[in-house]
Amino acid sequence: MKRYEHWIGGHPHIPAAGEYLTSHAPASDTAVCEIAAGSAEDVAAAVEAARQAAAGWKNRKPGERGRILAAIGAGIRAQAESLASLETAESGKPAWQAPREVEGAAAYFDFYAGLANIPGGDVIDLGPGIHGYTLREPFGVVGVITPWNVPLNQAARAIAPALMAGNTVVAKPAEVTSATTLELARIATVAGLPDGVLNVVTGTGRASGAALVAHPDVRKVAFTGSVRAGREIGKIAAERILPLTLELGGKSANIVFADADLQAAVRGSIMAFVGNAGQVCTAGTRLLVADQIHDAFVAGLLKALPDLVKPGKTYGHLTTEDQYNKVLSYFEVAHQDGAVLAIGGRPVGEGWLVEPTVYTEVTNDMRIAREEVFGPVLAVLRFSSEEEAVRIANDSDYGLAAGLWTSDLGRAHRVAAQLEAGQVYVNGWQAGLVEGPFGGYKTSGYGREKGLEALHHYTQTKFVSVKL
Ligand code: NAI
Ligand code: MG
Repeated sequence: MKRYEHWIGGHPHIPAAGEYLTSHAPASDTAVCEIAAGSAEDVAAAVEAARQAAAGWKNRKPGERGRILAAIGAGIRAQAESLASLETAESGKPAWQAPREVEGAAAYFDFYAGLANIPGGDVIDLGPGIHGYTLREPFGVVGVITPWNVPLNQAARAIAPALMAGNTVVAKPAEVTSATTLELARIATVAGLPDGVLNVVTGTGRASGAALVAHPDVRKVAFTGSVRAGREIGKIAAERILPLTLELGGKSANIVFADADLQAAVRGSIMAFVGNAGQVCTAGTRLLVADQIHDAFVAGLLKALPDLVKPGKTYGHLTTEDQYNKVLSYFEVAHQDGAVLAIGGRPVGEGWLVEPTVYTEVTNDMRIAREEVFGPVLAVLRFSSEEEAVRIANDSDYGLAAGLWTSDLGRAHRVAAQLEAGQVYVNGWQAGLVEGPFGGYKTSGYGREKGLEALHHYTQTKFVSVKL
């Protein structure tokens, strides 16, 4: 079995305490690899390596940084097969899926490499006798803490713009899916990234993750994961006045109006909630259906579901036992709240696999409509007017994504503008695009990943005024 050390200063780094965690394939005794069980001491070594590399990296020409990022993207593609099989083994994804996520990881490096030479600031007209301009400067050392649902892709999503902006990085992947992030650091070194610019410390959130957020030389943290961990990180950050990007999940509404292309909406609404076994922050898990079409639409969805979705093929096992138990517990919660189980609601086959599950007659006060399950579980609600659809959609603590299906162009833009969500998908659940900004309203978090906006989130602006 392969044993991974931390990756610090361009090399494997043995953990100070000499301890390791074993990563198993989901619902299996098969060990995939061992990873270093990190400690505050290991985090300190990684942050020091990143701190020492910071000036050199920041002072490289942007074009040079961009060329190295492009080479990392190419390096990911060259190793796509082995990265995908590692990801599959640790996460329980079906074999067809991981290659797409690996390609997406490479795409982040391509995209930010392509932004290397955009203007770095603005000239500000102050009239004669004085000249003003802005500089966008990196923070220095950035901490990146990622979850286990789309591991390599989520790491690349934060690391690529952070590096392009001239920061150095210490990444802390989820303890159950760390291997591909460690491989990414090795690939980056081979691709020419200077030692210390990207470091990876593994281990638990409480040991390695919290130490990373608390370290005084870390100047910004990007976190993706639970609201619970986001709050804990936020408390440490409040003391330190540490800027954060928090991406904390959702309970995204997906609205089907009566004038929609219903066939497309059935298919899109199914794929929006079952992808990756529902372990997706942008999953469309609250389906709002117009009264006039409700019964026919739900019947169509329930008929299409078994044809389109095969548990174990379309999606795999839930990635952790905690997650499996959490999903099962929501079957009970939905039952107690009086939601009608239309299909599914059970484990299937061996291991941590569950049936795609649909609840109807859900009202928005039920827990199944309010809380993130992170499983292939859909709550169906009714609405009687556009206004009511918007009101129900926005009556949520979360606000990461939302979808709507309509053939009325005016309605599409009108409703999109009213939805309290960081992304809105019209007539197709277009989650996962690299080019557009992504992030939450309300408890889904703050700050933005992806797109040009993320690049700016990894910089701080300096205004310079010169008396002439
Ligand atoms: P989690 O938030 O505990 O784990 C995510 C990452 O945060 C991991 O790398 C973990 O080691 C780290 N972490 C945990 N506690 C930390 C702390 N105090 N300080 C610093 N780092 C810390 O997520 P968990 O418990 O595995 O999943 C629970 C629920 O969170 C899921 O059921 C789902 O609802 C939500 N979630 C949302 C994700 C998203 O994409 N927004 C991803 C994963 C989970
Ligand atoms: Mg946790």
